[in-house]
Amino acid sequence: MRSYPNWSKRQEDKVDDPKCRIREATDKDLPALEWGGEFSRFRLVYRRAMKEARKGRQTLLVAEYNKTIVGQLFILFSTVHADPHPIPYTGYLYSFRVKPEYRNQGIGGSLIESAEEILQERAFRRVLIGVAKINEGARRLYERHGYSIIAEDPGEWSFIDHENQIQKVVEPTYIMEKIF
Ligand SMILES: CC(C)(COP(=O)(O)OP(=O)(O)OC[C@H]1O[C@@H](n2cnc3c(N)ncnc32)[C@H](O)[C@@H]1OP(=O)(O)O)[C@@H](O)C(=O)NCCC(=O)NCCS
Repeated sequence: MRSYPNWSKRQEDKVDDPKCRIREATDKDLPALEWGGEFSRFRLVYRRAMKEARKGRQTLLVAEYNKTIVGQLFILFSTVHADPHPIPYTGYLYSFRVKPEYRNQGIGGSLIESAEEILQERAFRRVLIGVAKINEGARRLYERHGYSIIAEDPGEWSFIDHENQIQKVVEPTYIMEKIF
């Protein structure tokens, strides 16, 4: 399995810290992705993503500190319906988050950079990410990493939660793009 050490390129004391690493998630990590219950509703979504990962259609990255998962970013090796100009070799980043007490240390940025590296190694030329219109902090982070807004999307989707209930989500979103 691949791992990506040195998650913070901007904080000297964390560089080469063996406690910090970014790696691909496995089946065993599924419970930890629920963050002790906060994200149990995504249990089936994550199981399905893992199944897709086994088929090579996705890669699920996690950031670990001292063997505890503190962040995640999933890579889809295909584009999404919200893409206004679908072209081959476009990837999509989603399910991005870092535990609150570990934010602002460069972990999110390192997850993005690791995901881009994986896409580039596979000759992908373009990557998209969706960001809620109200999430200015995340948008700023993506802009700093070279992403720009190319479309808007109503952000309507639904999923089946861990109690087998349909959950509907409406989150107006910007679609952001980066060309390698
Ligand atoms: C968005 C999110 C994943 C970013 O994760 P993160 O680990 O905090 O990201 P980074 O640390 O790389 O960058 C965030 C900020 O820290 C700053 N930063 C980066 N490296 C840093 C370092 N070594 N030391 C101090 N600050 C640093 C960045 O400049 C950035 O500042 P900003 O507030 O001006 O944007 C995280 O905030 C999160 O989980 N949010 C809730 C879920 C969410 O919104 N997900 C995105 C959905 S689209």
